[in-house]
Amino acid sequence: MKEFEIVIPVKAVNYDELDETDRTLVDSARQATERSYAPYSNFCVGAAILLSNGEIVTGANQENVAYPSGTCAERTACYYAHATYPDAKFKTIAIAARDTSGNEIVNPVAPCGACRQALLEYETLAGENVKVILVGSKEIFILPSVAATLPLAFTDFD
Ligand code: THU
Repeated sequence: MKEFEIVIPVKAVNYDELDETDRTLVDSARQATERSYAPYSNFCVGAAILLSNGEIVTGANQENVAYPSGTCAERTACYYAHATYPDAKFKTIAIAARDTSGNEIVNPVAPCGACRQALLEYETLAGENVKVILVGSKEIFILPSVAATLPLAFTDFD
């Protein structure tokens, strides 16, 4: 038997420690929470993706009365980004959220499993790491890649 551990590198920083590019992306993700449509959960998530062409594409969760038909902020953003700028690479994604009382969540929000898998597709297409910034009101987590959020990912079926 063989046993091994998978270790994920995470940096915990505060807003002031981010460079200007990352601060702008965090601001965009926070603003995107305002465009969430979440009448069922009242949990408002915003995502902002920086592309290699300099564009920032944002998305927010969009819920539906038929619950599973709704979409998370991250998938709203990544599908729109690639549908709009198919030749651009993803560089960084920032994700922010507000709770049912409208306050930013204290602990950094982490993408659901389906969103991790969807984002991994665009990291693979980019051929380079896509930095992930998870925003909370107290601290912000930075991961070096989408792959770091999804150990043992399903990557290929060849
Ligand atoms: N949600 C996101 O938008 N992103 C995530 O990573 C986790 C969950 C949304 C889906 C749903 O509209 C609400 O948050 C509550 O689960």
